[in-house]
Amino acid sequence: MELGNHTRVKEFVFMGLTQSPALSIILFLLLCLVYVTTLLGNLLIMLTVTCESRLHTPMYFLLRNLSVVDICFSSITAPKVLLDLLAKRKTISFNGCMTQMFFFHFLGGVDIFTLSVMAFDRYLAISKPLHYVTLMSKGRCLGLLAVSWVGGFIHSIVQISLLLPLPFVGPNVIDGFYCDVPQVLKLASTDTFVLELLMISNNGLVTTFWFFLLIVSYTGIMVMLRSHTGEGKSKAISTCSSHITVVTLHFVPCIYVYARPFTALPSDKPISVIFTVISPLLNPMIYTLRNQEMKSAMQRLQRQLMSSER
Ligand SMILES: *[C@@H]1O[C@H](CO)[C@@H](O)[C@H](O)[C@H]1NC(C)=O
Repeated sequence: MELGNHTRVKEFVFMGLTQSPALSIILFLLLCLVYVTTLLGNLLIMLTVTCESRLHTPMYFLLRNLSVVDICFSSITAPKVLLDLLAKRKTISFNGCMTQMFFFHFLGGVDIFTLSVMAFDRYLAISKPLHYVTLMSKGRCLGLLAVSWVGGFIHSIVQISLLLPLPFVGPNVIDGFYCDVPQVLKLASTDTFVLELLMISNNGLVTTFWFFLLIVSYTGIMVMLRSHTGEGKSKAISTCSSHITVVTLHFVPCIYVYARPFTALPSDKPISVIFTVISPLLNPMIYTLRNQEMKSAMQRLQRQLMSSER
């Protein structure tokens, strides 16, 4: 204890989602269901896009990319949250915490950039239909995705390199259920005001700005679509409205968590659950329930599987 002021904390303790054992069990079952559905739903999207040659277009390849990212993103927090719900003492090692934070922001960044590439793809398809195939070539598509991964990496590594040197010698209780910048920054035994401002701009302002950019682009696309006619029009409108729904439900909780000074509010935990556990489930839900092309592809796939069983 005498050395307490000079040694770095070895582990952090989570307060967790709830203290009540009964509620823990209920949340465990509920979140387990959500996590398993996320995995299966995203795998189903990957399988459908892979097996259906009709879906071998940039738009669906991008959707498959998003499913991969979503599976990874939810696996950074969900398994640990589930284990902790059953554990009495919910702890994470210092390195574990930093690793979780790094991958959380890395993949979260990739997720947001991939959604942007999907928006750009729709923009090209609708504003330049005649040149779309050449403009959105396989090489261009892979290039944009590579930029997304590099972008996510830079966003996250900058943040972690600012956090790592801070003196974490004092309190180690995190009022939450996973390691993220707002909660961890608060535990540093130093004045973090400037750093906090930096983090708010890195996360909050950038996501807010990016969200408005995406919404403006989709509004532009919708306006362009007004002058279109025929069957393609309603299909395009339905695709874009699914994209807008996914983008909105992804960004709004994210903006809520990051785009304000890091003071804890009682609503933080429910919002964090939405953002960490529910967001990755959105794509499968929206695409399997609302997208006609995807639904008929899944039905064809199911018929093929059933006839091969007989
Ligand atoms: C990601 O998108 C690229 C470009 O369209 C595609 O070639 C690749 O197969 C996709 N990857 C996955 C895992 O879906």
